[in-house]
Amino acid sequence: SAMTQTITLIEGDGIGPEITAQVVRVLQALQLPLTFDRQTLGQTALEQTGSLIPEATLQSIRKNHIALKAPCTTPVGQGFRSVNVQLRLAFDLYANIRPARSLEGVKTRYENVDLIIFRENTEDLYIGEERKIDEDTIEAIKRITRPASQRIIQAAFEYAAAHQRKKVTCVHKANILKQSDGLFLRIFREIAAQYPQIEATDLIVDNACMQMVMHPEQFDVMVMPNLYGDILSDLSSGLIGGLGLLPGVNRNEEIAIFEAVHGSAPDIAGKNLANPTALLQSACMMLDYLGYGDAAQRIHKALVSVLCDTPVRTRDLGGTATTTAFTDALIARL
Ligand code: NAI
Repeated sequence: SAMTQTITLIEGDGIGPEITAQVVRVLQALQLPLTFDRQTLGQTALEQTGSLIPEATLQSIRKNHIALKAPCTTPVGQGFRSVNVQLRLAFDLYANIRPARSLEGVKTRYENVDLIIFRENTEDLYIGEERKIDEDTIEAIKRITRPASQRIIQAAFEYAAAHQRKKVTCVHKANILKQSDGLFLRIFREIAAQYPQIEATDLIVDNACMQMVMHPEQFDVMVMPNLYGDILSDLSSGLIGGLGLLPGVNRNEEIAIFEAVHGSAPDIAGKNLANPTALLQSACMMLDYLGYGDAAQRIHKALVSVLCDTPVRTRDLGGTATTTAFTDALIARL
């Protein structure tokens, strides 16, 4: 479309500003009709505005319906709830979708990983309801509801149907958490029955971890409650070469916030060492979403070309290239 699309851009903290700058360079090289509305969030926002989640940032996302977000640091031990969890809850972004696909040119133990995790993003243990029974006893509430389970499971099957995926796997612990995960599994089976063309299976989370490490190529679409999704998506990043590669989106029907799976990596921040690929691949998901699939393909091809035809790669992938040098090589191949 010829209409200019405005995207809320959040540079984040730690390595956030470094990788955001590089992703913006790549997007600008494509000369798409996109403009960026820069907003702050997290530690930087707290320092600049006194608020971890400034109202202006929320308003911008509410208006633009789309954001590209780098990782944000939640200050530890001051009673702050996670910025990311709060942001997802503020917009009821119930689906956290994280595709893990083997990348040509990145040597790992596996070659044919192509799975996509649908993580429920609004409840489970993340409601943050912990309570002290006494000095030595704490309880945390795990909440599973029908509406939240239904919409994420439905989203997983809809995605599978729309993208010619063959199988959806539900991950749970219903053998122990008979009521909560039991409900999630029951709803999975109800919805699966509406998609007879798609194979539906379920696995207990411990077994799922073993299966993913032994034979990750057997997995296709996966759907699970919040905590298992958090853990298994980091695991799946390990299958394809690490956190520097895995993209994601938090979305509902109206609003989508695209972000890498990794955090703000304070250990390498400010050193021009971070791999910008995960945020770049999140930007590619955003381009697909906006109908610029060709542009996303161009970026993907340039990325694969750098990884296959040159030794240029960042330290996490065994190379010596800086964040900027890696992006230079990629832009040269667009
Ligand atoms: P992390 O993902 O920031 O780092 C884990 C390890 O992976 C570190 O060794 C780091 O150097 C490495 N790593 C991560 N991304 C990389 C990249 N792009 N290139 C190269 N290496 C990379 O996880 P950690 O240390 O648990 O969390 C740090 C901070 O990030 C915390 O404040 C946490 O709250 C926040 N966080 C924010 C997220 C978000 O904004 N969506 C998600 C996860 C954590």
